[in-house]
Amino acid sequence: MREVKIGFLGMGNVGSGAYRILRDNADVITHREGIKYTVVSALVRDKSKSRGDIPQQLLTTEPDDILCNPDIEIVAEFLGGVEPARTYILRAFENGKTVVTANKVVLANCWPELEASARKHGVGLYYEASVAGGIPIIRTLYSSMQANRITKVMGIINGTTNYILSAMSSQGRSYSEVLAEAQRIGLAEADPTLDVEGLDAAYKLSLLASIAFHAKVPMKHVYHEGITAITKQDIAIGKEMGLTLKLLAIGKKEDGQIQVRVHPTFIPDSHPLAAISGATNAVYLDCDALGELVLSGQGAGSMPTGSAVVSDIVYASQQQKHAYNTFKNDDNIPEISFNTNWESEYFVSVMAPDKPGILAAVAGIFAANNVSIASMVQKRTGEERVPVIFLTHRCRELNMKRAIEGIGGVEGLSVSGTIRVEAMS
Ligand code: NAP
Ligand code: HSE
Repeated sequence: MREVKIGFLGMGNVGSGAYRILRDNADVITHREGIKYTVVSALVRDKSKSRGDIPQQLLTTEPDDILCNPDIEIVAEFLGGVEPARTYILRAFENGKTVVTANKVVLANCWPELEASARKHGVGLYYEASVAGGIPIIRTLYSSMQANRITKVMGIINGTTNYILSAMSSQGRSYSEVLAEAQRIGLAEADPTLDVEGLDAAYKLSLLASIAFHAKVPMKHVYHEGITAITKQDIAIGKEMGLTLKLLAIGKKEDGQIQVRVHPTFIPDSHPLAAISGATNAVYLDCDALGELVLSGQGAGSMPTGSAVVSDIVYASQQQKHAYNTFKNDDNIPEISFNTNWESEYFVSVMAPDKPGILAAVAGIFAANNVSIASMVQKRTGEERVPVIFLTHRCRELNMKRAIEGIGGVEGLSVSGTIRVEAMS
């Protein structure tokens, strides 16, 4: 029986999950695939760290034990970050090894360079675990969607922020309270910036949109805005209007232009993504032949992410000839144009004194900027200044920005929240 030897770069959350799956499910995997998979070595920083049932003799602090080991056919990388992951992946390719990675940061930053090197050395580069953890979205896009033109990819692809927004919505708690709880239970990092500022989702969207639209979408073109300014009041008022708040990663291809953006977004309660709660991830595709497709599941965690890594290892080991992207994987992409002045509906929350003429002033500013109001609610609080919430029809992003500046410039008025609303397709 053929045996495939694997070297791990990293033995943390993801590495240990992948290791345990290869060990505990060895019988079924070998039975199905006719191949035996053996992890022979794993690079770590600290060999003395306690790692439960992971055998100590596998661990090394010397990268060449993996990168220069002629027996190793596949290198699986889960170090995180750009360096030294980039250097090690390139060295693995030079030494004729295929690489499987869970690392969205190294891919989003160095994908063209990594792919060029893999092609040059005739080896594979696989990255199912880099987007949405255990959800098989990458292979679905490559292998099952060839018949379609994809016009929209929308995802809840950050579990931490979905957990925070879900708890704020269902329990009426504040952002800081729920963030502290997420940190306590080990879901959010001690420094949660990457997640809560939308960067983690932006890295993943850069990869997803590139594959969905067959065009490299560099990270620098992905707009991102986080959830730190979201209030429980905005969420509660949205709820009364039949809207659910999510941090959505949105990619659209319209009239030959691509828009890619990550920001808090209200969606109708009936939208397929509205019911995705807690740390669960989901990706929604809108395609011309298939129509709508939603994949949901665990977007992070040792075993779910390990599942995606192992599926890449098995897939890579079965390829006679590795396939690469069908698009020019280059950061210089003059033929594509990116639309940053996209159209959306908006939820705008204005704090205003409850006196004659105020509504007329706000409506006038919206009208002057070509923003049409769809509905309006004023909340009675008994305070001198009250929240007035406007839902608009579709308008351009730049027009909305000018309107917000205009409203903020009127004495006594302040805009406390501006949240985009994604209607059903
Ligand atoms: P982790 O638990 O921090 O594990 C990282 C591993 O890499 C550790 O074993 C660490 O060694 C080792 N390492 C890091 N830098 C090293 C260096 N310079 N030299 C040698 N060893 C080094 O991280 P993780 O959660 O497994 O995440 C790994 C990757 O998977 C990241 O790119 C992440 O974005 C991605 N990912 C994670 C998840 C998830 O749920 N955690 C989901 C999807 C994708 P020590 O153990 O000795 O410190
Ligand atoms: N921190 C990420 C999340 C998991 O909360 O979804 C790793 O991609």
